[in-house]
Amino acid sequence: MTESPVSSRGPRHALWTPLPAPRRAGDVLLVRARVTELVPWARTVEAAWLDPAERARRDGFRREQDRDAFLARRCLLRAVLAEQLGTEPAAVPLGPAPGAAGRRGRPGVPGLHFSLSSSGGHVLLATGPRELGIDVEAVPDLAGAEQMSRILHPAERRRLARTRRGRRPAAVARVWARKESLLKAMGAGLSRDPAVDRVGAGRFPRRPLPGWRILDLPLGPGGADARAALTVSESWTDRRVRR
Ligand SMILES: CC(C)(COP(=O)(O)OP(=O)(O)OC[C@H]1O[C@@H](n2cnc3c(N)ncnc32)[C@H](O)[C@@H]1OP(=O)(O)O)[C@@H](O)C(=O)NCCC(=O)NCCS
Repeated sequence: MTESPVSSRGPRHALWTPLPAPRRAGDVLLVRARVTELVPWARTVEAAWLDPAERARRDGFRREQDRDAFLARRCLLRAVLAEQLGTEPAAVPLGPAPGAAGRRGRPGVPGLHFSLSSSGGHVLLATGPRELGIDVEAVPDLAGAEQMSRILHPAERRRLARTRRGRRPAAVARVWARKESLLKAMGAGLSRDPAVDRVGAGRFPRRPLPGWRILDLPLGPGGADARAALTVSESWTDRRVRR
């Protein structure tokens, strides 16, 4: 096997850190990184690692920040999945996920479950033995928060409208992270109307759909400017946690 430019056990480990997973998430691995820290490294490996479809996607982004975020997500994904598969990052068989989710943009690797998100320079990756979805959402300004609220579930909108203005942007980011983590776990993304499933704007996420558990993810130090959430398949948490 040929060596990749950076060995799969090389120095890039300093570029991402494990994020503690909530106990109720079951056996999930969470990884956290920053786009600005990943990009210089990603530029050294992208030529060897990205396949033609990924290179075409990278080149299709008009805004540099979107291109960088994609590059950071993809190189992190290939590095972490390569370790799990015991292969080289370029050899990870990434392609569209099977079925409708793949047509809606979800990537897949046979036999693995993972989900990926970036916002406001934060990157999160979740992998585990069952279907899952992760989302990180930068806290917007007040105008952005009002705009984001408009397409949420009516009960969420009412609750957010009652939230003090100073706290509203973070509250909106939290609802959006919950919502997108669920929609990504389902593979639908925003092809499913975000007004339909009531993930909740209160202290704890609700359970809008049987079979899925939504969990808020504390980002810890350096994460005050974003909110994150993870949705996991309940068949998995029930089996693992009821011991
Ligand atoms: C999923 C979605 C909500 C994520 O948008 P976002 O908040 O801007 O981006 P995030 O950084 O949080 O997540 C991006 C990652 O989500 C994943 N993703 C994309 N589509 C997904 C889907 N349908 N289901 C689950 N995950 C998906 C990918 O891993 C993507 O990373 P990548 O671009 O490196 O492959 C959005 O891309 C979406 O709604 N997609 C569906 C659109 C659709 O149905 N289009 C119709 C076909 S053209």
